[in-house]
Amino acid sequence: MAVPRFEPCISLPLEPSVLEDVVPKAKDWALMHGAAMRSKTNFNPDSLQFAPFVLIPSVFPRKEFEKAVAIQEVLNELVHKVAHDRDFLVENLKSVIEVDEFTNKLFKIYETVYSEGITQPIALGLLRSDIMLETCCGGGDCNEKNKKPKFQPHCCWKQVEVNTIASGFGWLGPASALIHSYVLAELGAGEKLKNLPPNSALEGLCGGMLEAWKLYGQEKAVILFIVEDVTYNICDQRFHEFKIREMAPKVKVIRKTLTEMSAQAKLGQHKELLVNGMEIAVVYFRSGYEPSQYNSSDDWDARLLIERSRAIKCPTIYYHLAGTKKVQQALAHPGALERFLNDADKVESVRDIFTGLYALEFNESGEKAVEMAMSNPDNYVLKPQREGGGNNVYGQQVKEVLEGMRNSQERTAWILMERIKPPVQKSYMIRPGTANSEGQKLVPVDVVSELGIFGAVIGDANKIISNKQVGHMLRTKISTADEGGVAAGLGALDSPYLID
Ligand SMILES: Nc1ncnc2c1ncn2[C@@H]1O[C@H](COP(=O)(O)OP(=O)(O)OP(=O)(O)O)[C@@H](O)[C@H]1O
Ligand SMILES: [Mg+2]
Repeated sequence: MAVPRFEPCISLPLEPSVLEDVVPKAKDWALMHGAAMRSKTNFNPDSLQFAPFVLIPSVFPRKEFEKAVAIQEVLNELVHKVAHDRDFLVENLKSVIEVDEFTNKLFKIYETVYSEGITQPIALGLLRSDIMLETCCGGGDCNEKNKKPKFQPHCCWKQVEVNTIASGFGWLGPASALIHSYVLAELGAGEKLKNLPPNSALEGLCGGMLEAWKLYGQEKAVILFIVEDVTYNICDQRFHEFKIREMAPKVKVIRKTLTEMSAQAKLGQHKELLVNGMEIAVVYFRSGYEPSQYNSSDDWDARLLIERSRAIKCPTIYYHLAGTKKVQQALAHPGALERFLNDADKVESVRDIFTGLYALEFNESGEKAVEMAMSNPDNYVLKPQREGGGNNVYGQQVKEVLEGMRNSQERTAWILMERIKPPVQKSYMIRPGTANSEGQKLVPVDVVSELGIFGAVIGDANKIISNKQVGHMLRTKISTADEGGVAAGLGALDSPYLID
């Protein structure tokens, strides 16, 4: 069966002479405007490489884009309420924490601060809901009303997940559309620019941090970014710092690793978070979401210290837990959404975007899910409680991994998800080192895309103070690749080209 596909917004292939002209220009444009990263293979803190990108923006149906934008505030509300529902988190994570050491350690921090009493009731959520267009709903929960006439390559979109920690691409998302604006104009297609939607993700995310900073209410207090030992995706952090400086010239941003925090941070008399004499108003985590980002128990102690403090955290430990794959799966359980959203339309609209999500507990439905995946592994993704890419299991390996842990308690720490099969389109992938005029031929390849919508939400257990959709990002990968993380080296920057 032919794979459903979109026609690209520019007729491909481009003439070799056109490519020879535009590719080096586009690479330099990206590099000179900060659509860049540090090289992993040739690391040098003083130099950058452009981030991989696709030469022309990928087609995305306008109606589906607008629907994704429109639902973000409901998703913000949902995640905020889930994060503050202790019973829900405890109940749904209890089997995971028995077998998954990382989630267990996060959960222990939650238990500790909960039993001591939460010092700072306000939480800042900077979320990113990732979605993919679906070509067919293959027995999932797609409603009849979503089914489109046959000539359209998609029928709807489904959510991959919501990220609640270190949701990246607030800068690289908007930057991608700027590369594409330049490229389309260079290709003589300036009239197409109107189909690139505006994207103020960077202002929106930094605006969220500044709103939290104001709520903290200390003129002199600073914003702290918790960063990795080595940051490759540096532009996607520094541009946030630069934007904060621009939006609020008086507000200082500092960067610390968890290890530096363990040596330099302490709590003041009223549990102020103090680092080298500076009081911290807001902590923005760009690290701390995977086990390797904790070098030792000292780093874990630093995470606990931050959590105990008065600083407003993005995310709080309970927001972090609310973003686990297990909680996502629990929300797809019948009746779960009703617990958080008291409006039937909201419940229905969110349920509509879930694809099949299954627990792998030792009970009848867990066994059924195991059977289902083993007999049709290509239709499922197996996910552990991890972030950052590269941890999920796809295709035949789903069967092998399930076979290996079928009788082990370990399987309860994983979830099973229906595999979303997005339509393909042709594009040019431009990576550092790829050809332009040096004899190698650049050819269009089949790619698939994933859209992320950013949300910013601030509030406490009782109320939401601010709730906004703030922008988007698009990542694109070769259609045969399982995952598309750009920082992880698999995907490429992209921006949506909206079609009616
Ligand atoms: N159900 C699915 N169907 C198709 N592809 C999927 C599915 N789930 C995940 N993927 C692919 O795998 C990637 C990583 O999945 P996921 O977001 O669940 O993991 P993660 O480790 O949290 O990644 P990230 O760091 O991007 O948040 C997705 O960006 C997507 O490309
Ligand atoms: Mg994630």
